[in-house]
Amino acid sequence: MKNDKKTILSGMRPTGKLHLGHLVGALSNWKKLQDEYDCFFMVADWHALMSEYERPSDIKKNSLEIVKDWVACGIDPDKSVIFVQSMVPEHLELAMVFSLLTPLGWLERCTTYKEQLREIKGRMLATYGFLGYPVLQTADIALYNADLVPVGIDQLPHLELAREIIRKFRGLYKADIFVEPEPMLTKVSKLVGLDNRKMSKSYNNFISLSDEADVVKKKVFSMYTDPKRIRADIPGNVKGNPVFIYHDIFNPDTEEVDDLKKRYAEGKVGDVEVKNKLTNALNVYLDPIREKRADLTDKEVMEILSSGAEKARQTAKRTMGKVKEYLHQMVS
Ligand code: TRP
Repeated sequence: MKNDKKTILSGMRPTGKLHLGHLVGALSNWKKLQDEYDCFFMVADWHALMSEYERPSDIKKNSLEIVKDWVACGIDPDKSVIFVQSMVPEHLELAMVFSLLTPLGWLERCTTYKEQLREIKGRMLATYGFLGYPVLQTADIALYNADLVPVGIDQLPHLELAREIIRKFRGLYKADIFVEPEPMLTKVSKLVGLDNRKMSKSYNNFISLSDEADVVKKKVFSMYTDPKRIRADIPGNVKGNPVFIYHDIFNPDTEEVDDLKKRYAEGKVGDVEVKNKLTNALNVYLDPIREKRADLTDKEVMEILSSGAEKARQTAKRTMGKVKEYLHQMVS
């Protein structure tokens, strides 16, 4: 069924509900890619388990929630293959093969690994499985022979490792399968958090896609603005001001935004008006997403996922069949 479209694979770990940062950073891009590419979008539950293995209870729930978010944002199960990693066992099979030929040094040197060991507190991550995180990610990509992998900049070390592992497989077995995948970097920069810090779950400084209208309002009114502007008649700074960054992205009424910016810079508008208008814009933006999300039942999501897994497995099995041929020891 291979056509001349290039293949895309990307994934997210099911660690909780998605927020505006995911929408701006990844989902709006995924949505556009669906028409031009053969897309595989994967819930990386094994990857989540690598850090959550001590308390795995939320992974299934989070997997269903994340797929609801995806579909509500326009990821279309009729256009793209939406699936859960653990429902396609070939991921682990290919990861095993790649683990055989990946030198420990490559993994130990990986900057994301070193950083997470250092930064993530309260979890024992010095495990064999966690060290192999990029090996499984390579299998995710290679199984579908993805040409392009849309990721954030933080994932580049993993993509580089994937290319190296694939190159090594091709060299060792004179194999003519697996293209070297290219990262596809999202153009928009990261959305800043409500408090002007990096948006992060642990700072609780984000708006979830499923937040109700009144929660959105409360969060917008808690937003950081220009700290020097203690009164509305003091001229304020628009540039780098989170309220205006959000207006620029989510408020389609550019005239309104320009007018607010002008008056803000002149000290002629209060924060309340700026924030009320942002609340409205965000709620108009989120309304259809929330509606679509609320309409999706767990049963429907399960149906999407079983048909996704079935489609994914067709390709995955074919790839594993070829891999086993190259390793001719295998009886199959
Ligand atoms: N490591 C990615 C992340 O944390 C998730 C992921 C798993 C992924 N497998 C992938 C992304 C394959 C792209 C391709 O965001």
